[in-house]
Amino acid sequence: MRATHATVDLARLRSNLGVLAGAAGPEVPLCLAVKANAYGHGITAGARAAVDAGVSMLGVATVDEAVSLRDAAVAAPVLLLGLPSADDIGELVASGAQTMVADLALARELSAAAGAVDARVAVHIKVDTGMGRIGCPPERAGELWAAVAELPHLDVAGIATHFARADEEQLDYTRGQLARFLAACDDCGTAVRHAANSAALLRLPESRLDMARPGIAAYGIRPSRYLPAETELLPALRWTTRIVQMKQVAAGTGFSYGHRYHTRATTWIATLPVGYGDGYRRGLSDRAQVAIGGRRYPVVGTICMDQCLVDIGPRPTAAVGDEVTLIGDPPAPSAEELAAWLETIPYEVLTGIAARVPRRYEGDHLRGSDPVDGP
Ligand SMILES: Cc1ncc(COP(=O)(O)O)c(C=O)c1O
Repeated sequence: MRATHATVDLARLRSNLGVLAGAAGPEVPLCLAVKANAYGHGITAGARAAVDAGVSMLGVATVDEAVSLRDAAVAAPVLLLGLPSADDIGELVASGAQTMVADLALARELSAAAGAVDARVAVHIKVDTGMGRIGCPPERAGELWAAVAELPHLDVAGIATHFARADEEQLDYTRGQLARFLAACDDCGTAVRHAANSAALLRLPESRLDMARPGIAAYGIRPSRYLPAETELLPALRWTTRIVQMKQVAAGTGFSYGHRYHTRATTWIATLPVGYGDGYRRGLSDRAQVAIGGRRYPVVGTICMDQCLVDIGPRPTAAVGDEVTLIGDPPAPSAEELAAWLETIPYEVLTGIAARVPRRYEGDHLRGSDPVDGP
């Protein structure tokens, strides 16, 4: 196992899913977004834990992700949240996944591809109520629904929309999207209506409808700064490494590419085997902090592809082999804090943890509590 790895606490994932299920209530099933490697947590383990915890459906962004869940025999229907491209349709049909459709041309292609292998595909009519990304206009939904329902190898299983601003303090725009969506649903036949992402599920009860599609909250990240404080979400991912070298250096020594950092006094510098090739982004250079032995230290100098440096200070209060937490519980920085340093959102920080960073899993009651290496 590489010194640099991410540990995912599946008990925390289950606890967060419990919070979401509690908010949704017994009548509203959850479709958990496990796209982008379950937001960096590992798609197979994340999906298995979610199904174990009662999640009814899994949302993916690519047909490859759907195929990986099928190959791992994950026991829940999979929904492609985006639209398949023409090249993907055969594989999508073979994967058994459900998909969004936003126009009749795609629906016809899907039906033909399914018919060619004597299969059926369940589709969800995607309505663009104000996200501006994918979906048919609300006023065309009824017409599309009727035409798709006529196609011989498709089943219309759902009707969906996606909120653009459910994390904001004011929810007026989201309420407007919901109203446009419900009007579109009235023009369609009966199908599972779903719209709510994490923020809407937790903040706008009337948006929960027949199914909710949370993502980020399940991984323990607050989906909106306006979420009530009592909603307890536990970050499921911890990112750690270990010091590989310690050296004492004189004042005025330059470090790493470009020597953008010079020591001001005699100090100890620790080298960490993690860099932007692992998703520890170069933009964190001279901004980020890490935790070692319960204290924070600054990341100094340019972050390299595979290594970076930490200024430990005048005394060697850390040693080669010590664990260093890049993302974790206090006093370590959170994913939100890294996101703030990078002027981005925690979604990007978590999904940016590279594939070469091994994922380990703990808190899995099926396998005991010792960390195990993930698929
Ligand atoms: C269509 C769709 N539904 C649901 C989600 C989950 O959103 P969140 O992670 O904000 O809960 C996403 C994520 O981007 C999405 O694209």
